[in-house]
Amino acid sequence: MQDDWTAIILAAGLGKRMRSKKAKALHTIAGRPMLLHVLAAVREAFASHDTNASHVAVVGHGAEQVEAALDGSVRCVRQAEQLGTGNAVAQAESVAKASLHVLVLNADLPLISPDTIAGLITRHLEENADLTFLTAVVADARGQGRIRRDAAGRVTGIVEEAEADSAALAGSEVNVGIYCFRGEWLWPRLSRIERSAAGEYYVTDLVGIAVNDGTTLVAVPVDDAVEALGINDRTQLAQAEAVMRERICRRHMLAGVTIVDPATTYIDADVTIGMDTTLHPSTSLLGRTSIGEDCEIGPDCRIADSTLGDRCRVVSSAVEDSTLEDGVSVGPYSHLRGGAHICSGAHIGNYAEVKNSRIGRNTKMGHFSYVGDAQVGDDVNIGAGTITCNFDGARKHRTVIGDGAFIGSDTMLIAPVEVGAGARTGAGSVINHDVPPNALAVGVPARIRRKKEGRNE
Ligand code: UD1
Ligand code: CA
Repeated sequence: MQDDWTAIILAAGLGKRMRSKKAKALHTIAGRPMLLHVLAAVREAFASHDTNASHVAVVGHGAEQVEAALDGSVRCVRQAEQLGTGNAVAQAESVAKASLHVLVLNADLPLISPDTIAGLITRHLEENADLTFLTAVVADARGQGRIRRDAAGRVTGIVEEAEADSAALAGSEVNVGIYCFRGEWLWPRLSRIERSAAGEYYVTDLVGIAVNDGTTLVAVPVDDAVEALGINDRTQLAQAEAVMRERICRRHMLAGVTIVDPATTYIDADVTIGMDTTLHPSTSLLGRTSIGEDCEIGPDCRIADSTLGDRCRVVSSAVEDSTLEDGVSVGPYSHLRGGAHICSGAHIGNYAEVKNSRIGRNTKMGHFSYVGDAQVGDDVNIGAGTITCNFDGARKHRTVIGDGAFIGSDTMLIAPVEVGAGARTGAGSVINHDVPPNALAVGVPARIRRKKEGRNE
């Protein structure tokens, strides 16, 4: 059965004013391509209406990348040539035709809220309208279609800036770029749109057509004009980023996260943070990051695509693609990356780098060390200056360190190599052969000196 509604997101434009090789819809705000912000708002709006809707994106410029960003979440139709927003809507006719109503949205409106879209849908249904669209009164109307009204205040049309005379240009009420149509009204009228002097078919001409038809046309003003910010260039991109960042910080604070300085805290849209966690100044939480409860993060941290448990403490450090279990402390000045997995209670101190390694429970690695491609057991002490020499110039090799081992300061572990459980290495030793459990290895290259009593292999 066809859903009552189809939402069509127009995302085929290049966005010339962005001066970019990338399609405009893919430019990110709070780490998420702008069209995904629009899509999320649309989905939430329909959810609040308890209405099932189909979603379709019209793609053109950078179609493959845009489709990849959508990742199969919505159907895509291609607009071969960017002949304007009216032509873009027409590309979706065959997929949307059976729906009673059609919601059309520009993809460059990342600040639009679910409530505003839901409100527009409500008005459209209440008024039983053929066309319902959103307007905004803005301080800077540059680049936007102006709403034309008659002396009685009735809408008579939308004038695009390219066609506007000075009277129209002086207007401050603009078209936001979100429209509800009754499907039966919309589809036959698309072909009545005439090509503009600029060579485009404007979806906004449908407003004038509706007025001439004497049909039910409703203009709904948006409550907060900031939601109407269309992103056409990179100054607007930065404006939207600032607004979005403030919204995200506010959402987390209201959910129980302390943010000491929201002005220097950057949290991407999809990040989750547990209650009673504190974020100190100059902290970025990016991508698919999730932080548990009662953590202290920052100052001066960058955490990307990582998962932190509860009660973690990270100071002045960079954490990427990594997992920290509960009660881990990191920093200042350390770098975890490439699939580092730090088990509960472990401590990674200053100037340490951990890459593609598992560090066991309660293991301490306090001072300037590199551990890469390693498996380190529980309760290990890694002395200052320890290095896993994992790269032989051609290939990477693994280091394994057993539970309870004590790695002396400045130990070089020439991988592949294994240090057994309970073994010790002397300060400055170069370990190029396996060390048995409970043995002591010292020297350059290291020799096995003795085994601890009572624990022979
Ligand atoms: C459009 C509106 C304008 C409104 C403004 C709000 C038209 C003719 N004008 O102007 O009234 O005030 O948005 O921000 O609609 N697109 C396509 N295919 C095309 C052309 C555009 O898919 O052939 C997509 C773009 O990717 C974009 C959206 O439609 O997401 C709007 O296009 P854009 O060029 O930004 O329109 P504006 O000039 O801003
Ligand atoms: Ca625009």
